[in-house]
Amino acid sequence: MCGIVGYIGTQAATEILLAGLEKLEYRGYDSAGIATIWEGEVNCIRAKGKLHNLRSKLELVESPSQIGIGHTRWATHGKPEERNAHPHMDATLRIAVVQNGIIENYRELREELKAKGYVFRSDTDTEVIPHLIAESLKNLPSPTLATSPSPFFEAVRQVVGKLQGAFAIAVLSADFPDELIAIRQQAPLVIGFGQGEFFCASDTPAIVSYTRAVLPLDNGEMARLTPLGVEVYDFAGIRLKKQPRLLNLSPTMVEKQGFKHFMLKEIYEQPGVVRASLDAYFKADWTAANAEGSPVNLNIDGEIFSDLEQIQIVACGTSWHAALVGKYLLEQLAGIPTQVQYASEFRYAPSPITANTLTIGVTQSGETADTLAALAMEKERRQGKEAKYQVRLLGITNRPESSLGHMVPRIINTLAGIEIGVAATKTFIAQLMAFYALAVDLAYRQKTVTPEKLEYIINGLRQIPKEIEATLESQEKLTELLAHDFAETTDFIFLGRGINFPIALEGALKLKEISYIHAEGYPAGEMKHGPIALLDAKVPVVAIAVPGSVYEKVISNSQEAKARDSRLIGVTPIEDGEAAEIFNDLLPIANVDELLSPILTVIPLQLLAYHIAARRGLDVDQPRNLAKSVTVE
Ligand code: AGP
Repeated sequence: MCGIVGYIGTQAATEILLAGLEKLEYRGYDSAGIATIWEGEVNCIRAKGKLHNLRSKLELVESPSQIGIGHTRWATHGKPEERNAHPHMDATLRIAVVQNGIIENYRELREELKAKGYVFRSDTDTEVIPHLIAESLKNLPSPTLATSPSPFFEAVRQVVGKLQGAFAIAVLSADFPDELIAIRQQAPLVIGFGQGEFFCASDTPAIVSYTRAVLPLDNGEMARLTPLGVEVYDFAGIRLKKQPRLLNLSPTMVEKQGFKHFMLKEIYEQPGVVRASLDAYFKADWTAANAEGSPVNLNIDGEIFSDLEQIQIVACGTSWHAALVGKYLLEQLAGIPTQVQYASEFRYAPSPITANTLTIGVTQSGETADTLAALAMEKERRQGKEAKYQVRLLGITNRPESSLGHMVPRIINTLAGIEIGVAATKTFIAQLMAFYALAVDLAYRQKTVTPEKLEYIINGLRQIPKEIEATLESQEKLTELLAHDFAETTDFIFLGRGINFPIALEGALKLKEISYIHAEGYPAGEMKHGPIALLDAKVPVVAIAVPGSVYEKVISNSQEAKARDSRLIGVTPIEDGEAAEIFNDLLPIANVDELLSPILTVIPLQLLAYHIAARRGLDVDQPRNLAKSVTVE
């Protein structure tokens, strides 16, 4: 949540900062602001609302400044008003600060500063920082420590030692116009190296148009950016030797490429995501007849999988839905009892573990505060126990360079590429693929399934990309037409059973978050235990009915909804017989094995949500109140 960016170099900073913030808007868009240094003064401009409001304001200001910091906000402390927008400044308006995260002890610090006569202009936690730096500069011994590169750096360093919480910060001062200080403590921050110009940002898309040489800071590190280069230090002020690496991301990957919204582009990228996952996870030459070793290559040492007794998975939102599909696969294929927990709940009431319990954290961003805290807690409670406890931690993420990647040594990288739309689509499909690979691998290791069955599953998965392509082609128009009918609908119900129950939840979440229509997902059999009271002609029901263990049951449950006058939309491969009679509308998919069906059934639901939101004229990629990375608890 919140995006920060900083620039120092030879070009005009304002446009670079704005372009960077545009790429970070997915992290929050309640307000935006930038601070630059020009003619010995800090020039700070801020605006409530989205970045275009800030842009309009900046058109009136001419500043060829070559240093600056910027921020796009997701409000935590203080309403989304201009006075709470970042950057925040000290009393003399010489120091400007942007922050992503939360300063947990800001109340005490604020009281201490107030007692010294400091006056606060905002309700934010961040405003303590510029005041503390001003105070620290005042009290700095002269001459400054010989080991410190500059008084400004030293003052900032001393303040960082007083801050508690998870944060990334960028700071500049009009009195030190050739320095920009960037700090990371449990919130992402990457440094970019250009030709005579240097950057910092919450995420790489903000800087990829200028450089691909990047250095993600680690927790407890701070960087001093000057026109001459970048120095990295730890919080004790010890200089560290660090080398940038080359980013595997091109500027076009973070463009819409002709699609109206990032979400639609990302929905269409899903066949490619499945292909990339198949290539990476499954051995091309493995066959049942030649079943030497696992068909899966996850690059994880087998130690964490030996003698597994149970798996517990922690995640939030869409990742939690992927984990529920994972549970089905792990239990039904590999025979391993699996629990799925909301990370925010698990943290405060963790289930008991044994030495043979594997804990998996799933987070596409790798930055979700609740998931990270749950894993940190899990890591801690395993410490001091025998080695078996300690190794059984696994992360599944789309951003291996994220905080999760730093925290957990064993990671399954999902291969969605960067996702910009706030509503997760292709990262969900990528997580499903990771779970298919993990379940097949464990089924092989546990010998719960014959090699022939594994080969059948893998061959089925290999057909999925073209089935998704066909679904996209056939559903684009159908879902657009349905969206026309449902643009004014206020409530929706999604039904699924078995492996498709999580898809009902995901379909409802997609609709809620981008169209603001109330939607609920239920296991179809639960309807009669209460929720059926909600149904009438105004409440459409989307039912996922895939041939297999629960097809007849879902059809019966759909009948029950129909009897209450609901308009019924069927996501099903069966277009005749009973299905044709019951469903008012059909969203047909290919007839694949039930076990593989979630990768297909979710596609029409993503498209339906997208078209309803677009039809309602809403901001599909940046829905209200949301942010892509939820870095607060
Ligand atoms: C998905 O559409 C949502 N925006 C949200 O539920 C998201 O899945 C959740 O915040 C978890 O994010 P993560 O995967 O990055 O941890």
